[in-house]
Amino acid sequence: MDATTRPARDNWGSKLAFILAAAGSAVGLGNIWGFPTIAAANGGAAFLFVYLLAVALIGAPVMLAELVIGRRTARNPVGAFKALAPRSAWFVVGGMGVLAGIMILSFYSVIAGWTMAYVVKSASGEFVAGADTAAIFSGVAGNAGTSIGWHLAFMVLTVLVVIGGVKDGIERWTKVMMPALVVILLVLVARAVTLSGAGPGLEFYLRPDFSRLDGGVVLAAIGQAFFSLSLGMGAMITYGSYVSRKDDLETSAGWVVAFDTSIAFLAGLIIFPTLFHAGLEAGEGGPGMVFVVLTSLLSTIPPEPWGGTVFGVLFFLLLLVAALTSSISLLEVATAWLVDEKGVSRKKASIGIATIAFLVGVPSALANGAVPWLSSLPGIGMDFLSFLFAVFGQYALVLGALLISIFVGWVWGVENAAEEVRSNDGKFSFERTWSFLIRFLCPIAIVSLLVFLLWQQLGS
Ligand code: TRP
Repeated sequence: MDATTRPARDNWGSKLAFILAAAGSAVGLGNIWGFPTIAAANGGAAFLFVYLLAVALIGAPVMLAELVIGRRTARNPVGAFKALAPRSAWFVVGGMGVLAGIMILSFYSVIAGWTMAYVVKSASGEFVAGADTAAIFSGVAGNAGTSIGWHLAFMVLTVLVVIGGVKDGIERWTKVMMPALVVILLVLVARAVTLSGAGPGLEFYLRPDFSRLDGGVVLAAIGQAFFSLSLGMGAMITYGSYVSRKDDLETSAGWVVAFDTSIAFLAGLIIFPTLFHAGLEAGEGGPGMVFVVLTSLLSTIPPEPWGGTVFGVLFFLLLLVAALTSSISLLEVATAWLVDEKGVSRKKASIGIATIAFLVGVPSALANGAVPWLSSLPGIGMDFLSFLFAVFGQYALVLGALLISIFVGWVWGVENAAEEVRSNDGKFSFERTWSFLIRFLCPIAIVSLLVFLLWQQLGS
């Protein structure tokens, strides 16, 4: 496609607005709920080490690749691949992304629903010294009606923002929420690292024990990097499609990656000291761990008895908004596809997709105690929510990112991509590094990992 034939499209208000929206998509439950959960299950510091490498060497280049595809074509992921590689099967990668987005949204909304329930619980002063925070979690997630009800409430909220369109809905929320979230996190970090027994928790999180490293840890780290950065399913292609040619993609991608990674790192500084302080076992928590641990931290915040209540309400409200700015990007991908490719109205498209995601999410809402076999799938041992997370939140994204890097590196070509990166000011500082990473390191690292894991599976 010629560089001048981008279809007209709604654009972000400014470069800052775009960075905030992309950061809003990236920062969410994946940072504060997903990162500590997965780090705990994968040995702590060894995971953190691989995670940081994966973000810098694989996540960041794929982020730029997706944004470039989006801005060049100004289309949804399916349309974008059709425009850049007509009469080929590459559009299937976009289609996979649309599907993965719906599946991720289904369980994302369940966890976000718990967050809504926790705003109410904090406000009613339940998290005080001596509260049984594990029992409180079971009361929310283990109760079918409560869990499904909040899942529905969150999905409705997501649809309402997406119907409002990209500019007003998404931009407005993120501008206020991001700085506020950082402030609250810093307060919680200060409290967590000064708890008695915080030391071993920090050690678990920060001093790597490389004997814990194996293929599974590396896969978890790469998968989590993609999930946290919203990569591998076309969300950043879609967001990139609303970026104007005046803005700089390279620095934008850098900011988003740095911001997202800092927030996840802070979340770890909160969760691990608290986990060890409370004498809980890392790695046995499952999806409820972060909720149980965080709320036990709240009750230690002075002044008694209302310090925990105030911080609880603020924290869960901010987490809720962070989840919302992420879930809208999950819904936006499938919505943009129906609107661009099938001519469906924005309202009909978003309501239809959200309804499907809600229904698909119901088993996840029942998978933390409400229905025993969903809480521990026969033959798999995982709960249904964690299972969907593994399949769509890890494997599908890793596969998607692999195909995207092959496409940009070898099919469409790094020269075309670089030309698009340079189109605002003629500069692309990391062009050679980026070309090398996207052509060689990303695909080779992912393929060797998948082959290794397959081989390990066959061997066992
Ligand atoms: N990155 C978000 C988080 O960390 C979740 C998310 C939003 C996402 N959009 C995505 C994950 C697209 C993968 C792909 O919570």
